[in-house]
Amino acid sequence: SLQGEGREGAAPNGSAQQLPQTIIIGVRKGGTRALLEMLSLHPDVAAAENEVHFFDWEEHYSQGLGWYLGQMPFSSPHQLTVEKTPAYFTSPKVPERVHSMNPGIRLLLILRDPSERVLSDYTQVFYNHVQKRKPYPSIEEFLVRDGRLNVGYKALNRSLYHVHLQNWLRFFPLRRIHIVDGDRLIRDPFPEIQKVERFLKLSPQINASNFYFNKTKGFYCLRDGGRDRCLHESKGRAHPQVDPRLLSKLHEYFHEPNKKFFELVGRTFDWH
Ligand code: A3P
Repeated sequence: SLQGEGREGAAPNGSAQQLPQTIIIGVRKGGTRALLEMLSLHPDVAAAENEVHFFDWEEHYSQGLGWYLGQMPFSSPHQLTVEKTPAYFTSPKVPERVHSMNPGIRLLLILRDPSERVLSDYTQVFYNHVQKRKPYPSIEEFLVRDGRLNVGYKALNRSLYHVHLQNWLRFFPLRRIHIVDGDRLIRDPFPEIQKVERFLKLSPQINASNFYFNKTKGFYCLRDGGRDRCLHESKGRAHPQVDPRLLSKLHEYFHEPNKKFFELVGRTFDWH
């Protein structure tokens, strides 16, 4: 039937908004945009374009699931809807809220070397200030206090993956949380994306030929039906040079937390 055609410009016949069957919960600067874009190569995936911040922002959460549904893209019934909001991973209230929406939901968590993530986190905030023509202190001013590593720096806390994951494991079994290796996603995205396809029980439709290395960008870019595109220039930025001794302190700081994290997930990662 042609019912609705022309009336619902954005919504072709039979399409509707669906609550997400999977959410990319973080981590901030882990490669969440790359993961979302790469997963969107799959014809059975419909992704919300913007970060929705439903479960972590009270002014959104208080509006209820109807509001959340309204943020989702139009999709066919056979498609999976996905949204990404990296702040979810580190927000203590979020796991229970996601669970109360759908206890069977599949969660995607992309992580990278925690020290590298700190530098990326700093770089993000630095450029936010540059954009607003505001000054911003050097990374050393955040990392060092009284000659020691400043463990009060918030970016450090966000890299304590075991602390945050524990909040999620109170509501979800580990088999519902797929961890994407963000460092591998940078170096060789296709195998990491194949694992995600399997976790989400999607048919294997993303191909190696959907990815090509762009030398100018220094990262993999996407080839989608003959259309080539790289992520925004804000993705894949150079990080500040940090004194090697300070960098070792950072690596040292994460050594024990990383071990705890590996034990928690029964798997190791190639981190400093
Ligand atoms: P940097 O810009 O610090 O290198 P998020 O989307 O969660 O903010 O993560 C941003 C990070 O995604 C980037 O951090 C970059 O390292 C990583 N990334 C992974 N794959 C990428 C790709 N194909 N192109 C650009 N950035 C990618």
